[in-house]
Amino acid sequence: MVKICCIGAGYVGGPTMAVIALKCPEIQVAVVDISVPRISAWNSDTLPIYEPGLDEVVKKCRGKNLFFSSDVEKHVSEADIVFVSVNTPTKTQGLGAGKAADLTYWESAARMIADVSKSNKIVVEKSTVPVKTAEAIEKILTHNSKGINFQILSNPEFLAEGTAIQDLFEPDRVLVGGRETPEGQKAIKALRDVYAHWVPMDRIICTNLWSAELSKLAANAFLAQRISSVNAMSALCEATGADVSQVSHAVGKDTRIGPKFLNASVGFGGSCFQKDILNLVYICECNGLPEVANYWKQVIKVNDYQKTRFVNRIVSSMFNTVSGKKIAILGFAFKKDTGDTRETPAIDVCKGLLGDKAMLSIYDPQVSEEQIQRDLSMNKFDWDHPVHLQPTSPSSMKQVSVVWDAYAATKDAHGICILTEWDEFKTLDYQKIYDNMQKPAFVFDGRNIVDVAKLREIGFIVYSIGKPLDEWLKDMPAVA
Ligand code: UDX
Ligand code: ADP
Repeated sequence: MVKICCIGAGYVGGPTMAVIALKCPEIQVAVVDISVPRISAWNSDTLPIYEPGLDEVVKKCRGKNLFFSSDVEKHVSEADIVFVSVNTPTKTQGLGAGKAADLTYWESAARMIADVSKSNKIVVEKSTVPVKTAEAIEKILTHNSKGINFQILSNPEFLAEGTAIQDLFEPDRVLVGGRETPEGQKAIKALRDVYAHWVPMDRIICTNLWSAELSKLAANAFLAQRISSVNAMSALCEATGADVSQVSHAVGKDTRIGPKFLNASVGFGGSCFQKDILNLVYICECNGLPEVANYWKQVIKVNDYQKTRFVNRIVSSMFNTVSGKKIAILGFAFKKDTGDTRETPAIDVCKGLLGDKAMLSIYDPQVSEEQIQRDLSMNKFDWDHPVHLQPTSPSSMKQVSVVWDAYAATKDAHGICILTEWDEFKTLDYQKIYDNMQKPAFVFDGRNIVDVAKLREIGFIVYSIGKPLDEWLKDMPAVA
């Protein structure tokens, strides 16, 4: 029986291994993590991450061929294939701070694999790490190998949160990179055989190690670039009276461009886009390519500009001050159908409003108060470090309250900001909400999900990204 072990029971490791276990009943899959509470949650009825469809998959396999354990060393030593899916945060200090990936967690996992291994292993790089990391890991493993043969593969994950199970069931492609030696090719085949249980062969792409690693960074950079492109257009639309949804529709009809990933928003978030682009920028700079580095840096700059622009719209529309005013924040996760808040635009928008002394009342169906408080008191780039290394909430958090209902959040508020496109925000009783708000009542829709005409009819002053402006907003400056 083939044994797989995955180090890191997070957003990538957990769902990916659950699907491998479901699709390959004859393979034994163990998911291990140094975090004991995380493993306990995976073994309980309340999984540590919210992902549609995940509960069913885990329930079907857990205890049969899928196990969650904090006995990291035991499962690693027994495995034939070890996936490494640990966090790779952006470095906050030292060389490459603010750009390069911090490989502390990866390095310690690699050293542990070398320490406990008694048989040959395939080690699979699953978390996004900068190009050429596999080479570094290979060096650690081979220099500490005690005669054991390690083959390193890069198998980047392309799942998106909120649709992870569907993405894993029917991936556009699976990418497996390895050495071009006979042993490397044998390892590639072993991993390909795992995916071949449910993925058509023509969707499994085999490449060399470096191509696989770079493809992941490139794919995320291209995706993020589309969003920054449409967001840049949204600013121009607001200035000229065009409607960004109409522009995206017309542009996306070109089959060379395609219709997906062209929704203007308050900005992209998530654990990958910014981090991967920063990595790409760093790699370009290290390779003497400043023009290329600056090109990609601009994608992040436009994303930051979009968030700042949104905050400025709010403040300038509300008589240039939000001090002491209650603002309802609907949605805190970085997108719908996830409880994940890493790099969510809500953090920057809320911090911007708090800086202007607003009183925030936040509601998200999946994000806990503890998480929101931690996010708002954290420094940039600290979000991907373990909880125990993060600062506790300072007293300024008195300006923030977290409630469990959109109606409670909006009661007596001066304005509403929609920051995540949760379906339930589309069908709220906006008349009831309006009746319970201060007047004039504002809606700032950062996801373009509300029916603008209907809300204006009720009496709201509405701002939607990239849409023709309300009379109220026309002469107010939106750019810092
Ligand atoms: C992304 C990649 O899609 C995935 O392939 C990779 O493995 C990890 O990074 P994820 O971050 O989970 O996945 O979600 P994604 O759906 O890509 O959304 C990222 C951000 O972009 C979200 O904040 C989302 O709201 C925003 N977005 C997306 C837009 O603002 N407009 C769009 O048109 C699409
Ligand atoms: P991702 O979104 O890439 O899956 P997460 O932060 O959700 O990232 O998950 C990474 C997991 O890896 C965390 O649960 C963390 O505790 C775990 N981890 C980090 N270093 C190690 C290690 N050396 N051994 C085992 N688990 C680790």
